[in-house]
Amino acid sequence: MDGNGRWAKARHRPRSFGHSAGRKAVRETVECCLREGVEVLTLFAFSSENWQRPQDEVGALMELFVRALDKEVDELHGYGVRVRFIGALQAFDELLQQRMRAAMAKTADNQRLQLNIAVNYGGRWDIVHAAQQAAAAVARGELGVEELNEASLGRWMSLADLPPLDLFIRTGGEYRLSNFLLWQTAYAELYFTDTLWPDFDQASLRSAIEDYARRERRFGRTGAQVART
Ligand code: IPE
Ligand code: MG
Repeated sequence: MDGNGRWAKARHRPRSFGHSAGRKAVRETVECCLREGVEVLTLFAFSSENWQRPQDEVGALMELFVRALDKEVDELHGYGVRVRFIGALQAFDELLQQRMRAAMAKTADNQRLQLNIAVNYGGRWDIVHAAQQAAAAVARGELGVEELNEASLGRWMSLADLPPLDLFIRTGGEYRLSNFLLWQTAYAELYFTDTLWPDFDQASLRSAIEDYARRERRFGRTGAQVART
């Protein structure tokens, strides 16, 4: 979700105004996923690198998270959305952690849409975190070093219990992954749009999905092989 700051700047408003506007785009995207039957949506809300932003912006973002959690969770629950936070959650203040845990517990049995919100998340962190857990399992004698492979390491990665990632969307006109879901994007289709996140709406998501539907996913095989399956 990139482009909040530029969106605000174009309106001669503070960056925090752009982040608030971005919240509306989140709601719209979630509602569109519900209508279109998308089963899993993962949003990159705050990266492990975002702590380096000016203190007042980080503070405004944290406040926005708390307010959004207080206001939106009941509605999401009503829609049948299961909310999960991924990332190094222990870096957040205890109050925010409690609210995140409460939102996850409250919505744990919902099945209509799995909404994952990545906060203090980094793709490299995810891989290191999985490696640490694998190493601990080896140290406990539960896993042999030779049993460590893509499948076994992958099981410790965030979102491992969900279907593989199909479509990765980046808004705001930059062509990079910025340390989001590095492991999980190995075979994802990438989609980049100049639309700034606060302007991202139902039509934008539909365009991305239509573009995705035209792609041929070969997973390393040839087009002829794929056509036969
Ligand atoms: C939102 O967009 C991303 C968040 C960290 C919440 P930006 O704040 O990166 O907006 P730009 O890139 O400065 O326009
Ligand atoms: Mg940005």
